[in-house]
Amino acid sequence: MIEIRRRDPRTQSEGVVAGYAQTAQRWPAQPLLRRPHTASELSNLNHLEGRLPLIRGDLAGHGARRALGQLIHLRARVVDEGGVPVAGAVVEVWHCNAAGKYIHPNDSSDAPEDPNFYGAARLLTGDSGLAELRTIKPGAYPVPDTGGWWRPPHIHFSVWGRVWLSRLVTQMFFPGEPLNESDAILNAVRGPDARRRCIAELAPTAHGPRDALVYDYQIVVRGRSASPGMP
Ligand SMILES: [Fe+2]
Repeated sequence: MIEIRRRDPRTQSEGVVAGYAQTAQRWPAQPLLRRPHTASELSNLNHLEGRLPLIRGDLAGHGARRALGQLIHLRARVVDEGGVPVAGAVVEVWHCNAAGKYIHPNDSSDAPEDPNFYGAARLLTGDSGLAELRTIKPGAYPVPDTGGWWRPPHIHFSVWGRVWLSRLVTQMFFPGEPLNESDAILNAVRGPDARRRCIAELAPTAHGPRDALVYDYQIVVRGRSASPGMP
């Protein structure tokens, strides 16, 4: 049976992020109690993708129906703590459009919508743990009522690894973004190495596709080097 370790505060995000009021509502207000895990929590996902149908590996579209923004090709690789690829992991992805607007009723900003951008995908990793997505680079956006906090470009991820309890909800960031330095969510991860694991790498452009920048992002679903969970 797989052992699920306690959340490691050195590599994980603080549960309540200073300056981000909603996190206080999403985080337990009382001390956690330890209880034994049930067999169903530790059992494997048993073809989860059959119950959650896969959708769109391409959020950018083509030709006259192409979303606005910088085209990117994202290679997200899911591995376990030993670096072994996790095949069959369900990877859900969502992000805002190039103007910083989400397709969601809670996004009340007046940034423009993009009719050619869908905004979410559900993918399945192959034998090498890889899930690939063609999309556009999301824009930065201001967080309402925070006195000037802007989120850097980022992509939200939800990943189910080998068992139900290995679900990871996190965010991927882009390298070299000045707003990364001041982002309350990224910087709620205190360890610099853990923070670095949240930032994708730009692949060399010489051999990539002609029209898209390629980013590599590794997601570690458990263990000491686990990718930090984020709200
Ligand atoms: Fe976001």
